[in-house]
Amino acid sequence: MRIDILTLFPNMVKGPLKESILKRAQEKGLVKINVLDIRSFTHDRHRTADDAPYGGGAGMVLKPEPIFEAMESIKSKIKNQKSKIKVILMTPQGKRFDQGMAKGLAREKHLVFICGHYEGIDERIKRMVTDEISIGDYVLTGGELAALVVIDALVRLIPGVLGKEESIICDSFYSGLLDYPHYTRPGKYRGMRVPKVLLSGDHKRIARWRRKEALRRTLERRPDLLKEIKLSNEDKRLLREIKGLRPRGVSDLEGE
Ligand code: ADE
Repeated sequence: MRIDILTLFPNMVKGPLKESILKRAQEKGLVKINVLDIRSFTHDRHRTADDAPYGGGAGMVLKPEPIFEAMESIKSKIKNQKSKIKVILMTPQGKRFDQGMAKGLAREKHLVFICGHYEGIDERIKRMVTDEISIGDYVLTGGELAALVVIDALVRLIPGVLGKEESIICDSFYSGLLDYPHYTRPGKYRGMRVPKVLLSGDHKRIARWRRKEALRRTLERRPDLLKEIKLSNEDKRLLREIKGLRPRGVSDLEGE
């Protein structure tokens, strides 16, 4: 995959791309990420990328010319001119980002992120935009951090990026549920014990306990998610147990 990030603040995005999974994914050649400074596509002495809004009002508006020229430069450098590019504008007015969108974007060949700043962008830039994405209902100073969130979430879903494929499968949201609790050594720490079932070596019981705890967390914290997924009969049974609609099963006592 190839990713281009158009920004007025390249240093804001470069650091996180040099760490951890994002760094490794690039080293493995699974993704190539370019950061382009919008100002390098301006032609005046002051490298002007923004201007006052027509019609008056506060704030500045990102000018169309440098963005159009940056896109033309990106397109001129790729071999297959016909290949489809997703051009994503980061904006609080976009579609709310979620794991489903991350999965979809992870299958693309080429993504361009436009990070807006100031009051907004000249509406004509949207001629080139295929998707507008928001990472939540709050306003950031610009699209850079939002683009990094989206890039981080999608790059780790590219096959081969994570060591073990199951680490994706177990993620919160991957199955539509929140993740179950995790424990590592020591078995007892400051009086807190690891649930016994996890030490049992009985993989079937462990899987059942994890599923139940994932359902419990989702029910407690994000009941809206339960409406979105198809629950198995076993899931429904576990939920009834969690809600105390049946006498507590042995499995309720296992972790205690
Ligand atoms: N730019 C500013 N706020 C944003 C948000 N919430 N999501 C995406 N881009 C943004």
